[in-house]
Amino acid sequence: MQNKTILILKGDGIGPEVIEQALKVLDVISQKYNHKFEYIEALIGGVAIDKCGVPLPDETLELAKSSDAVLLGAVGDWKYDNLDFDIRPEKGLLGLRKGLRLFANLRPVKIFEELISSSPLKENLIKDTDIMIVRELSGGIYFGSPRGTEIKKGEKTAFNTMIYSESEIKRIAKVAFESAMLRNKKVCSIDKENVLDVSRLWRDVVIKISKDYPEVELYHMYVDNAAMQLIMEPKQFDVILTSNLFGDILSDEASVLSGSLGLLPSASLPADGGVGMFEPCHGSAPNFKGLDVVNPIATILSAAMMLKYSFNMEKEAQNIETAVSEVLKQGYRTKDILKNENEQLVGTSKMGDLIANEAGKR
Ligand code: IPM
Ligand code: MG
Repeated sequence: MQNKTILILKGDGIGPEVIEQALKVLDVISQKYNHKFEYIEALIGGVAIDKCGVPLPDETLELAKSSDAVLLGAVGDWKYDNLDFDIRPEKGLLGLRKGLRLFANLRPVKIFEELISSSPLKENLIKDTDIMIVRELSGGIYFGSPRGTEIKKGEKTAFNTMIYSESEIKRIAKVAFESAMLRNKKVCSIDKENVLDVSRLWRDVVIKISKDYPEVELYHMYVDNAAMQLIMEPKQFDVILTSNLFGDILSDEASVLSGSLGLLPSASLPADGGVGMFEPCHGSAPNFKGLDVVNPIATILSAAMMLKYSFNMEKEAQNIETAVSEVLKQGYRTKDILKNENEQLVGTSKMGDLIANEAGKR
C-alpha cells in the first residue's frame, strides 16, 4: 500500500483524451493493489497561455516539484505558431524539463508481436527488435546559449549553440550503461564526431565511462548512418545513447518500427531525488482533438513507466504492459494500427476501457 500524489498535466489537442484513458487504468491498478493515487491538475502549454498568458505558470512548476510524479498529455497547437518563441506551448514543456532537472529521457521501442504487420517495415527485419533510447534531455542545442536572432552584415541571422559539458555527458552515459546492464549489455553511442567538436568530447567521455562497465559492449555511430541503420537493421541496437536533438529525431523514426508513434511511451528522469515526468512521445495532434480516434497506448504505457521508475511498482507496471498486449491480441485496434480485416476498430475511449478492464483481471 502506497500513497502517491500525481500531477496531471493534460495540455493541448488530444492530450486530455489520452490522459483520461491512462487515469482509467491507474484507477483500476490503485484499487487492485490497494494504493492511493491522488491526482492534482494544473495547466501547461496552450491552455496555460489562454488562461494565464504563459505556457508554464509558476504554480504548475511548484506543484510539479511537490508531487511524487508528473503525467503529461501533450502540448502545442497551430493557433500559437505566430507567438513569440518564448511564450509558445512547447516552451512550457521545455521549462518543466529544465525546472525539474530531467536530464534522462528513456524511450523504449518494443515490437508487439501482435502488431508486426502494422509496421511499414518487413516482418523479418523488425521481429524481436527491442531498443531503449536514452536521450539527454536538459542540455545540448535545445538549451545552449547564446541563442537568438540578430542583424549581421545587414541581414537577419539566427543562431543556437550546441553545448555539452563533461559532467552532463557523464551522467547521461551512466544511465545508458546502467540500463544496458539490465538488458543485452550493448550501448551504441550516436554522435556526429566527424564534424562537431561537441561530439568529439561526447565520444571521449562515453569511452571513459565505459571502462566502469567492462561487461558492456560499446560502439559508436554517426547520426546520419544511425538514421539509416535504424530502418535497415534495427535488431542490432540494444541501448542507444544520444544527445537531445539527435534523440528527438531518432526516437520519432524508431517509433514507426513498432507500427505507430501512438505506441511509444517515455520517462524523463531527474537528477538524484527529484520528481520524474512521464509522457507519450507523440505530440498534441490538434486536428484529431475530440474525435475519439487517437491511440492512447503510448500514454497508458507512460503511466506504467511512472509506476516502475518513480514508485518502484514493478508488478503493477507489468500488469499494464500485459493488459495492453492482451487487448491487442484480442484484435482491437485504434485507427493508426488497424491493418487487417479480422481486426476490430475501436476509438480512444473504448481502447482505454478495454485495457483498464484487462488490467483488472490479472
Ligand atoms: C518530444 C517533442 C518535444 C521535443 C517538443 C514538443 C518540444 O518533440 O518530446 O520529442 O522536441 O523534445
Ligand atoms: Mg520529438
